[in-house]
Amino acid sequence: MKPVKVGVLGLGTVGGGTVNVLKRNAIEIARRAGREIVITRASAKDLTKARICDTQGIQLTSNPLDIINDPDIDIIVELIGGTSVKDLVLQALGNGKHVVTANKSLLALHGNEIFAKASEHGVMVAFEAAVAGGIPVIKAIREGLSGNRIEWLAGIINGTGNFILTEMRDKGRDFNDVLAEAQALGYAEADPTFDVEGIDAGHKLTILASIAFGMPLQFDKVYTEGITQITRLDVEYAEQLGYRIKHLGIARKTPEGIELRVHPTLIPERRLIANVDGVMNAVVIKGDAAGPSLYYGAGAGADPTASSVVADVIDVVRALTSDPENRVPHLAFQADALVDIPVLSADEFKTAYYLRLSAEDKPGVLADVTKILADHQISIEAIIQKQPLAGETVVPIILLTQVTREKEMNAAIAKIEALQTVTGKVNRIRLETLG
Ligand code: NDP
Ligand code: HSE
Repeated sequence: MKPVKVGVLGLGTVGGGTVNVLKRNAIEIARRAGREIVITRASAKDLTKARICDTQGIQLTSNPLDIINDPDIDIIVELIGGTSVKDLVLQALGNGKHVVTANKSLLALHGNEIFAKASEHGVMVAFEAAVAGGIPVIKAIREGLSGNRIEWLAGIINGTGNFILTEMRDKGRDFNDVLAEAQALGYAEADPTFDVEGIDAGHKLTILASIAFGMPLQFDKVYTEGITQITRLDVEYAEQLGYRIKHLGIARKTPEGIELRVHPTLIPERRLIANVDGVMNAVVIKGDAAGPSLYYGAGAGADPTASSVVADVIDVVRALTSDPENRVPHLAFQADALVDIPVLSADEFKTAYYLRLSAEDKPGVLADVTKILADHQISIEAIIQKQPLAGETVVPIILLTQVTREKEMNAAIAKIEALQTVTGKVNRIRLETLG
């Protein structure tokens, strides 16, 4: 059989890694796919730049359209990134080419249109690398867990953010210094605010929720909070209470609708996911039949992400001869079986909380705070008063609450902050036991 011809758009971290893995493991890959897979063309913006891969034997261009419009190319691998490649991808699909991509922002924002176009033209869009780098979590949900009703999933799904949090906690390093290292290592997005403000994790959560619950992609309904507000003090207090602070994406099905949220979260330190450090990612998925299962691996970087890209290329090659109706659906559920399940507003989230406030050290202060919480039906799990910090007269008070609705907590926090005896803002971090 003649080799399958692949065109790669983008030769940066992931594109370079993909060329390397496809070349390095060509024999194994051909044995698995049943055909030789060859990258014959690739594009990059600056053709004079040094590459992490050997481009010998690959025809290079700075115009991706040269590849998309080349009738010899069977599969387009889009590794440029960003949403401005939407038209390129639509054109590739319109030309009858299968597309493999690692581009979560593109899919989270325009995936519904892209998958519809792919179905119209009987071609595939594969995107394992778009979520959690080298972890085959899309395949796990879409195929391995397809007999389950998924109840919830929670994951550390941004490698850069987890790398920053880990280095800050373990080595006391400065935020910007670690971010610069993550950029140099090729982990960060072109715009690193996507990593640190939770937008990248929001894109990934959009995709995970869609394939877990069978709903259209709706990034605009995801609540996102980043890691920039996490303080060293909260990390220390959380650890004294037996918790770790991790940046989680959480999707949960409730009787009222779906919670889609990305934010720093206290997790009991005994949970495996609380011990996922550095650039590693992990996703816990709770299915009604399988129970909880955990998927762990590198969340970013050239080779790990290339591992997922190449697996997708092999999947596409294996499916080239199958009828489009017999392929695994893009979003796990048949396209006409997707249901527009309501997504809850942040006010309706139900979660437990860690609260830190600074108060005057005098009788009655704690009673005022606990009365406000009781008035909002918020039960307290633990309360600790710490020694004043050096040079301060106010004392830090740490509270852990039981699960409550977010709007009750917002109202209670507003009243606590209005107390004469409380100074400044209440620092609130959500807490999940993931039990
Ligand atoms: P890079 O910035 O390293 O690479 C982007 C590549 O696209 C570069 O080769 C660049 O060319 C090329 N490019 C940029 N603009 C154009 C253009 N207009 N026309 C042609 N080529 C262009 O990005 P990454 O490899 O890190 O990311 C690629 C995709 O993979 C993104 O969607 C990202 O979100 C995703 N991803 C990244 C991961 C990672 O660990 N980095 C992990 C998982 C997903 P040149 O090199 O000449 O500048
Ligand atoms: N910037 C992303 C991260 C790349 O750090 O997780 C992997 O999607």
